[in-house]
Amino acid sequence: MAPPIRLRRWADMLVVAPLSANTLAKVVHGMSDNLLTSVIRAWDTDSSIDMKKKVILVAPAMNSAMWRNPVTEKQIRVLTDDWGVKEEVTGPAGEARSIIGWFKVITPISKTLACGDTGGAMASVPSICEAIERDLQLNAEG
Ligand SMILES: Cc1cc2nc3c(=O)[nH]c(=O)nc-3n(C[C@H](O)[C@H](O)[C@H](O)COP(=O)(O)O)c2cc1C
Repeated sequence: MAPPIRLRRWADMLVVAPLSANTLAKVVHGMSDNLLTSVIRAWDTDSSIDMKKKVILVAPAMNSAMWRNPVTEKQIRVLTDDWGVKEEVTGPAGEARSIIGWFKVITPISKTLACGDTGGAMASVPSICEAIERDLQLNAEG
């Protein structure tokens, strides 16, 4: 079986931390030119193949000007608004709810980067771990 498909089936979730500007752009445009982007492209986005809801968690990190570039906002909006995990109300009276989407984005934080610019830094590792634990329900409270 092709490696991206095997990895997709095997994984409980996929974490990309850091998500570079380059990989963000590729993902949003459906490119699959390496193993990572191929797994993301082969994700079971509506759980109809593997019958299991699985999330792709990304923590973008890039130079401050790259982060502030309008193209980044556009691409992040695809991951959050179009493909982001959210609850959808489907019943006419709001009684039926289902979870749609497969991306979760952990927004960068504002701190001085190695280059001296400020902003676009990857969220802290503890906060990323917390998000993973929450999603996989690994925290003590379940
Ligand atoms: C030391 C170093 C650190 C880098 N850090 C980042 C980063 O945090 N975010 C980013 O978008 N690009 C960063 N880059 C540039 C990327 O490596 C470059 O854009 C590359 O094409 C990304 O490809 P990938 O998404 O396949 O990893 C860095 C480059 C170097 C040399």
